[in-house]
Amino acid sequence: METLMQVHNVSRTFHLGGGLFSAPQPLHALDDVSLELKRGEVLALVGESGSGKSTLSRIMLGLDIPTSGSVLLDGKPVESFGRKAFAGLVQPIFQDPYSSLNPRKTVRQLIEMPLVVAGRYSAAERQRKVRELLGILRMPSRMMSAYPNQMSGGQRQRVAIARALISHPKIVICDEPTSALDVSVQAQVLNLLMELRSAFQLTYLFISHDLAVVEYIADRVAVLEKGKLVETASVKDLFSAPQTDYTRQLLASALTIPQVDASPGPVPGVSRPIS
Ligand SMILES: Nc1ncnc2c1ncn2[C@@H]1O[C@H](COP(=O)(O)OP(=O)(O)O)[C@@H](O)[C@H]1O
Ligand SMILES: [Mg+2]
Repeated sequence: METLMQVHNVSRTFHLGGGLFSAPQPLHALDDVSLELKRGEVLALVGESGSGKSTLSRIMLGLDIPTSGSVLLDGKPVESFGRKAFAGLVQPIFQDPYSSLNPRKTVRQLIEMPLVVAGRYSAAERQRKVRELLGILRMPSRMMSAYPNQMSGGQRQRVAIARALISHPKIVICDEPTSALDVSVQAQVLNLLMELRSAFQLTYLFISHDLAVVEYIADRVAVLEKGKLVETASVKDLFSAPQTDYTRQLLASALTIPQVDASPGPVPGVSRPIS
């Protein structure tokens, strides 16, 4: 498979604290991380809380700049794209759709925002595209005039997904996209993401601490430990023959946490229609 995005020796250091008599302490959130996102794949990024997953995703989204190293999209440095062009190609879905959606905007305004930013579409075209996308996400078009606080968590996350997809990006970077949702709607949203993957020919970077979810949806897995990439493998290899102690510990600890949908089979609710 062809490489779509390449993370090349990326480090990100934050400087914390420091006062009158003490120097700020460097925190190495990412330390020489290299990985490839291949066209059409779902690459999961796993690791304990604080291991640097969100920092890496923000850098891949162009929302943060590495201290050293580079990120290439289609072989070109991400800085060379310009904000609008890059936003048309790489889009985020964050964990908490409530804080990522402006509460004063209607669903229509929220979803059409990337098209407004792109500046190439009339109001009528934007409305048509929003309506079409709501149809694909199986949300009634009367939702267009609703506000985030009038919707359920699952509906809000669907709005965030619609907003991410309306510009037909190539890459969607999901940072714990179902972690804030009720267990009953997590599977629906995951299945929706997987349906959209083929319908929109998407490539996903998918951050999750839930290894059952990772096993269900990912093609490959990259494991971060304290800012270092310790292992990258196919899902099958990672779960059957983890190569590092850290990965083995992650897998073992996942088994001890009671999880409603930890079965290796299909996620419960898979066959249920998306409401
Ligand atoms: N803006 C920031 N300023 C200072 N430290 C940060 C910042 N963002 C993240 N960190 C630190 O970097 C480390 C990695 O954080 P993060 O990427 O959010 O991890 P994860 O998403 O895997 O939980 C943590 O120690 C976190 O406290
Ligand atoms: Mg995080």
